[in-house]
Amino acid sequence: MSENAVEMRDLLKTFGGGRSLFGRKASEVRAVKGISLDLKRGETLGIVGESGSGKSTLARMLVGLEAPTSGTMQIDGKPWAELAATGSRAFGRTIQYVFQDPVASLNPRKTIGDILDVPLRLLCGYDASKRARRKKELVDAVQMPLDTLERFPHEFSGGQAQRIAIARALAAEARILVLDEPVSALDVSVQAQVLLLLQQLRDDLGLSYLFISHDLAVVESISDRVAVMYLGEVVEVGPAARLFAAPQHDYTRALISSAPRLTSPDIA
Ligand SMILES: Nc1ncnc2c1ncn2[C@@H]1O[C@H](COP(=O)(O)OP(=O)(O)OP(=O)(O)O)[C@@H](O)[C@H]1O
Ligand SMILES: [Mg+2]
Repeated sequence: MSENAVEMRDLLKTFGGGRSLFGRKASEVRAVKGISLDLKRGETLGIVGESGSGKSTLARMLVGLEAPTSGTMQIDGKPWAELAATGSRAFGRTIQYVFQDPVASLNPRKTIGDILDVPLRLLCGYDASKRARRKKELVDAVQMPLDTLERFPHEFSGGQAQRIAIARALAAEARILVLDEPVSALDVSVQAQVLLLLQQLRDDLGLSYLFISHDLAVVESISDRVAVMYLGEVVEVGPAARLFAAPQHDYTRALISSAPRLTSPDIA
């Protein structure tokens, strides 16, 4: 088994750039410009960078929602192209995406039990009794009461809804999660609880996380390593403590000095 949960090599993604109606070349957006990066097994790799730097584009390619223009990826030791050829089921059992807005990501007309049923049926093909057992396990794993299964998404707070979204991401036993601003929509006190849950799940289940956030304090607290993206490129990657204490790249320095921080190394 490969040491890395994810390997990205020379990943490039452009949007547009075709011919317009009158034959003029439409302008091309190079959202991701040749990224090579590894996510190690059991690791949390933080991704920071300003809006539009290509973080979500990278994330969407990893989970198969978007195809790279060029470059290669290995997900859980399997070539991305092989997963893509097999279809969304193969991706769903290997790598899952958790979105920023938990309530919007849950179907409002379905109970949580029905929502969790979908991956267990479609991705795992479990029979009814196995699905019922697994649903109980899942709500328990994210520290929600059992009656959660009978309730609807609007009955939950943002933090509870994000716990449910995490349970859904884990349903088909994918061991790699791409978390795209998973706590940005939550109150600070709730953020801390969800981050703690994510850390516990990671350690208990041996998960690997690609954790995207604007919030440098959050990224510093949860990440083993951090990659800094700027205009579609990774300009710096390193251990979280080192990167924040002694940033090497000018852009990383600018990003850190522009962010409000609770503790400053100058004061400590
Ligand atoms: N489907 C698309 N079509 C055209 N351009 C796109 C598309 N998706 C993303 N882009 C462009 O690619 C660039 C990177 O966008 P992306 O969403 O990956 O940034 P981001 O780092 O996730 O930003 P944010 O922090 O605001 O979420 C932007 O210039 C964006 O406008
Ligand atoms: Mg984004």
